[in-house]
Amino acid sequence: MARGKQIYEGKAKILYEGPEPGTLIQFFKDDATAFNAQKKAVLEGKGVLNNRISEFVMLGLERIGIPTHFIKRINMREQLIRHVEIVPLEVVVRNVAAGSICKRLGLKEGDPLPRSVVEFYYKDDKLGDPMISEDHITAWGWASPQEIDDMMAYALRVNDYLSGLFAAAHIRLIDFKLEFGRQYENDMVRLILADEISPDGCRLWDLDTGEVMDKDRFRKDLGDVVEGYREVARRLGVLRNDDEGTGDKSGPKLVRNNGEAPS
Ligand code: TMP
Repeated sequence: MARGKQIYEGKAKILYEGPEPGTLIQFFKDDATAFNAQKKAVLEGKGVLNNRISEFVMLGLERIGIPTHFIKRINMREQLIRHVEIVPLEVVVRNVAAGSICKRLGLKEGDPLPRSVVEFYYKDDKLGDPMISEDHITAWGWASPQEIDDMMAYALRVNDYLSGLFAAAHIRLIDFKLEFGRQYENDMVRLILADEISPDGCRLWDLDTGEVMDKDRFRKDLGDVVEGYREVARRLGVLRNDDEGTGDKSGPKLVRNNGEAPS
């Protein structure tokens, strides 16, 4: 599939013009950053795994009626997506205390929260993505009250779906980050899930041992980062069990391919 000119480069992905109006191609890089890009590395194979994991999760969400930007995976590193106007917010859902909430509220990592909580952060690297309230969002017009309601409702439905999906894979969903976008069609605008859902933006712990399988492996130097992501993919059934250690540079083999011929 021909990709057009590059329109945006982020820390972990590049966006190109898509083959038709209203579409983009999202390319998954191997680059990893943490602490607002103060820590950087290239993690070979990460982009391929995130592409596959995000495809699998987005397709599952579509199936339960949550609209997403995902159209189809094109190859190992690229997917065709709907062009949206990104809402400049990071929507975080937390089930268990970890990361910034521990410092902010003096919680112990691993403590369950009284209930799932949704938080909003303003997407601005210069400011380090500060946490904000719903009142800030409407005062500055980053999203309307209706959009805030929709994002909260979608975020909690995504949380329920993902918690079950990962639990079935023997993984505990601690927290995760979502981004939303506005899709304009004729005179209509609708909010849909955008970006990616992958171990880059989730905390995922083994259900029994608590082993960290997400980007905290990179943030905290906990060991082979890509192996953690690969294990997530394997447990979700996105990779064949025998993909490990073969030295096969062609990359992971797809088992769930949603009816397409394997590439
Ligand atoms: P936090 O505990 O650092 O606030 O992170 C909460 C969740 O959001 C965690 O799953 C990691 C994810 N996240 C991102 O995807 N991007 C970010 O820039 C940050 C700070 C967190």
